[in-house]
Amino acid sequence: MTTERERDHKSEVFSKALRDVIVTDNAVPDAYLWPKQELGPMLGHEEFGEDGIPLIDLGGFEELDNNQRRQIYDRIRGACATYGFFQVVNHGVDLRILDRIQAASKKFFDVPLETKEKLECKLEGDRLLGYGFYKSSKLKTQRRNWSEGLFVDKPHIARVSSTVWPEDTDSQTEFSESVEEYVGALRELGLRLTRLILNSLGVYPETYDKYMPKEPALMRLNHYPPCPDPSKTVGLVPHHDANFFTILHQGDVGGLQVKKDEGWVAVRPYPNAFAVNAGNMLQVISNDICKSVLHKAVVNQDSDRYSIAYFVQAPDWDHIAPLPELVDAAHPVKYRPFTWPEYLESQLANPSNALKNFEL
Ligand code: OGA
Ligand code: NI
Repeated sequence: MTTERERDHKSEVFSKALRDVIVTDNAVPDAYLWPKQELGPMLGHEEFGEDGIPLIDLGGFEELDNNQRRQIYDRIRGACATYGFFQVVNHGVDLRILDRIQAASKKFFDVPLETKEKLECKLEGDRLLGYGFYKSSKLKTQRRNWSEGLFVDKPHIARVSSTVWPEDTDSQTEFSESVEEYVGALRELGLRLTRLILNSLGVYPETYDKYMPKEPALMRLNHYPPCPDPSKTVGLVPHHDANFFTILHQGDVGGLQVKKDEGWVAVRPYPNAFAVNAGNMLQVISNDICKSVLHKAVVNQDSDRYSIAYFVQAPDWDHIAPLPELVDAAHPVKYRPFTWPEYLESQLANPSNALKNFEL
């Protein structure tokens, strides 16, 4: 039984995705309008400029000599310290896998809203799964993201397919296979990036086992429909990712922007690339060398935009803490050790600065 109070609480926390947008056309409904002062300086979805975020070619990495590898590590370290973001190409993920998941994502979001809403967004254990979105509780307002999203992880793929296409086994199979294939490929890439990032930090463990991400990873398919007035709304509210690091595929329509000084820098979309960004756990583990930077998605008037975020999880440690290898007299430890449940509690209480509680 769901009590009245629980229901109220739920509708507070989870937005109804784009219900109002779908039923009213051609105007931005109030719930999606953001006051100018909250939006701050805006950068259009195609104002790329010289972003400075490096595009790192991982092709042939195994054949590189130590000096050439060092150069790549240094670029990764510099990018993580300055922007919290870098991009990779020739990353080893088959481009057909990318095309296939983009098609599967589009097909999912094309399904009628009533069907998608059967996958109600809720916390299961310590993770959010299903269709919808967290509201921007940071600002304690009713304002919504101009987007819809599906959180899924490997153990729940089949549940999504059978809920959305109960009578259509071909569609079930196609969706499940595309997502499973993607998760498999991204798991490999996640492990590879973990080693690259550790090397860039100058951490060369005998065995990397203890540093490897916890499974399963969490994934979010995002859909940003065209918006009649992109300057008055936001596709995905400015946020920090909580996890270890995120591997984002943004297709060929731009929209991802990263906070830099007082403004925003757009991350140029390359259909064959991934954007990689440090989350709060990498910031802690790296003792603040890697920055978990505020980022958001903006929308545009003409094109649907689909992005896929693969959230690599922090290693499965009792306590998250800076790596001892990165701490010495000149680099004092910045965070006290904490557990993941402690972090989640802190994030609920203070979503915009969840690490504050653990700073030393
Ligand atoms: C995210 C995210 C940006 C985008 O899903 O956490 O930052 O461009 N997405 O969709
Ligand atoms: Ni994010």
